[in-house]
Amino acid sequence: MQRRHPLLLLLIFSVFLSFQTSNGHNITRLLAKHPSLSTFNHYLTLTHLAQEINRRTTITVLALDNAAMSSLLNKNPSIYTMKNVLSLHVLLDYFGAKKLHQITNGTALAATMFQATGVAPGVSGFVNITDFKGGKVGFGAEDNGGDLDSFFVKSVEELPYNISVIQISKALPSAIAEAPTPGPSELNITGIMSAHGCKVFAGTLLANPEAMGTYEDNLNGGLTVFCPLDDAFKAFLPKYKNLTASGKESFLEFFGVPVYQSLSMLKSNNGLMNTLATDGASKFDFTVQNDGEQVTLKTKINTVKITGTLLDEQPVAIYTIDKVLMPRELFKAAPTPAPAPAPEEAADAPKASKSKSKSKSKSKSAPTPESDAPADSPDDDPADQTADDNAASSFKGGRFVAVGLSFLLVFLLL
Ligand SMILES: *[C@@H]1O[C@H](CO)[C@@H](O)[C@H](O)[C@H]1NC(C)=O
Ligand SMILES: *[C@@H]1O[C@H](CO)[C@@H](O)[C@H](O)[C@H]1NC(C)=O
Ligand SMILES: *[C@@H]1O[C@H](CO)[C@@H](O)[C@H](O)[C@H]1NC(C)=O
Ligand SMILES: *[C@@H]1O[C@H](CO)[C@@H](O)[C@H](O)[C@H]1NC(C)=O
Ligand SMILES: *[C@@H]1O[C@H](CO)[C@@H](O)[C@H](O)[C@H]1NC(C)=O
Ligand SMILES: *[C@@H]1O[C@H](CO)[C@@H](O)[C@H](O)[C@H]1NC(C)=O
Repeated sequence: MQRRHPLLLLLIFSVFLSFQTSNGHNITRLLAKHPSLSTFNHYLTLTHLAQEINRRTTITVLALDNAAMSSLLNKNPSIYTMKNVLSLHVLLDYFGAKKLHQITNGTALAATMFQATGVAPGVSGFVNITDFKGGKVGFGAEDNGGDLDSFFVKSVEELPYNISVIQISKALPSAIAEAPTPGPSELNITGIMSAHGCKVFAGTLLANPEAMGTYEDNLNGGLTVFCPLDDAFKAFLPKYKNLTASGKESFLEFFGVPVYQSLSMLKSNNGLMNTLATDGASKFDFTVQNDGEQVTLKTKINTVKITGTLLDEQPVAIYTIDKVLMPRELFKAAPTPAPAPAPEEAADAPKASKSKSKSKSKSKSAPTPESDAPADSPDDDPADQTADDNAASSFKGGRFVAVGLSFLLVFLLL
């Protein structure tokens, strides 16, 4: 019996390790030790790529020194173009110096973060790595006509097999990554939503010039939109039509947040979020809550899930949500047995019966039928997570499962 213990401990330890996911690397801190890479480091932060890099494991960052960054910046790229160019320099595989020189058959294609954004068509998001005779390793964007004119300089940092940072001699040229990206104010957000499953919401927004204006005013400074998918919003329209004019405007503005939030920012920030409808006492806020890789938005009335990314180009992001999130300022929670009616509700009641047609002030708007409200099981579809995540980072809750499992094993086997 005693003899089993080391094996058992090893088993427990490895179960524990296999679920460990706080990968802990911080690219900003890693690069800070290398002053010759400071411009590159600065731009990873400006473009929010640093956060994306920190979230992932099994990746390789192709770093550029300050001189190589200068020649890139001489072309005056917008920050959005810089993000595309730099994301082409993040490979979604681990290449330490050793592995680079031992590539099977001397050449490999690596997918990049640029390819994972969905912006890159065809093969343009891939990087060709070729191990030349004499130990020289060349890199080239796959849409660059086979030219491999950037070379391995040195290994900068290696945390096998989480992240490898290697310096290459110059930026990888790629016409597609370098193409000017439209400025945010030129974005047609309703067009993007209409084309990707949020046509009803987009149409409703377009029909409300006040709310649409609020969205447009926030495009340059940062905007995140959560658009309800068509089936859900269509079913909700009767309730929407029941709102007052100001209720309609606030309701539509409630689906926009006046700051840019990438998916990784949403995944790492739980808490209250103000919206475009927030105005002093009218809170119109909701709570962002993560469950593993699933991001949910909650009000006192209901909970919805983010199901996809339509656009994530700083400073604008658009995500789809599976249901219509309901602000508590406009809707009442489904009747629950416990609490007595709120005092203001009681006070409103007589008035409401007097002036049926006219008075539809915020607090009196349509009560919520149970069907929409608390029915969210925490549940069913981890499958609708967005596809661009490294599998390795998708198991935050797992550690606790592993701990539980470990205790169970100890209990059973000791
Ligand atoms: C990474 O390191 C930088 C510089 O030390 C720090 O400002 C930043 O907060 C760190 N990020 C995280 C996610 O810890
Ligand atoms: C390496 O080359 C051989 C012979 O050309 C080929 O059969 C094999 O599939 C190649 N391996 C890889 C990983 O490309
Ligand atoms: C990479 O590029 C070189 C030179 O153009 C080419 O010979 C090689 O086949 C390419 N490798 C892959 C994996 O496509
Ligand atoms: C790699 O990440 C794992 C967690 O995913 C961590 O336990 C390990 O220490 C990291 N390795 C290095 C070399 O930093
Ligand atoms: C935006 O897209 C919609 C739907 O595709 C289209 O009807 C509208 O004309 C576009 N607006 C602009 C300014 O291009
Ligand atoms: C619209 O409001 C009226 C009066 O407040 C209510 O009776 C009706 O159920 C509401 N309709 C919908 C679809 O919510």
